[in-house]
Order: sequence, then C-alpha cells, then structure tokens
Amino acid sequence: MRLSGAVILLTMGVAVSAATLPPGIREIFAKAQCQGCHNDNGVASSTRLKFPVDEAGEAAFIRSLEALIDRARPADSRLIQMPTARLAHPGGERVKRGRAEE
Ligand code: HEC
Repeated sequence: MRLSGAVILLTMGVAVSAATLPPGIREIFAKAQCQGCHNDNGVASSTRLKFPVDEAGEAAFIRSLEALIDRARPADSRLIQMPTARLAHPGGERVKRGRAEE
C-alpha cells in the first residue's frame, strides 16, 4: 500500500500544532496552483478548501483542512484523492500520482 507522505506529514503537523503547517506542503499547493480556483472568487469558492488571503485567515484555513483529512487512512483523504484525480476533480490531476509530492 502506498501511503501518502504529504498527507501523513500534514496529518501529523495538524495534530502537533494547530497554528502551522509542516514544511513543504505550502510549496506543493503553490506549485500545483490550487489557490487559483480555491479562493474567495474562484470556481472552487464553494468548496471547503479555501486558501487564506492573510495571516488572520491562516488558523481557520488549517482547521478547515481537518475536514478533508482521514486520519485513520491518510491516503483516502479528500485532500489527496481530489488533486490526484482519483475522485472527480474539476481542477483535474494537479499532483501526479506516485510522485514524491503525493
Ligand atoms: C481549475 C480549478 C481548480 C484547481 C486548480 C484545483 N481545484 Fe480542487 N476543486 C475545484 C472545484 C471546482 C471543486 C469542487 C468539486 C465539486 O464540488 O465536486 C474542487 C474540489 C476540491 C476538493 C474537495 C473540497 C471539499 O469541500 O470536499 C479538494 C480537497 C480539492 N479540490 C483539492 C485541490 C488541491 C489540493 C488542489 C491543488 C493541488 C486543487 N484542488 C486545485 C477546482 C480546482
């Protein structure tokens, strides 16, 4: 079974501290341009994934990720399943399956 390093890191990071994300995650989101759709005005503005516009929104953003993570089975998390296009994702396959990013 291939576990998702990113989600495991993320899961651990959220568990350890509600205020910061583990290193590397932000770069993955940025490189994949998730924020282009997942923002206040983007086509994905109605989803639970919405990137913060400022520092104040940061804590709420991190809490919101909780809903998209399956702690018992990290690889089944929506946060992993959608951008790798295992679940239907209008944003398409943003993170290549099997890469380190996943
Ligand atoms: C081209 C636009 C676009 C991009 C880029 C995009 N998405 Fe999405 N995403 C969407 C849309 C639209 C939905 C809503 C799907 C639905 O309602 O069925 C969605 C839904 C999701 C959801 C489900 C949210 C929920 O409330 O359950 C997750 C998780 C997600 N995307 C993650 C990502 C990640 C992570 C990235 C970057 C790696 C990304 N998306 C990039 C358009 C995009």
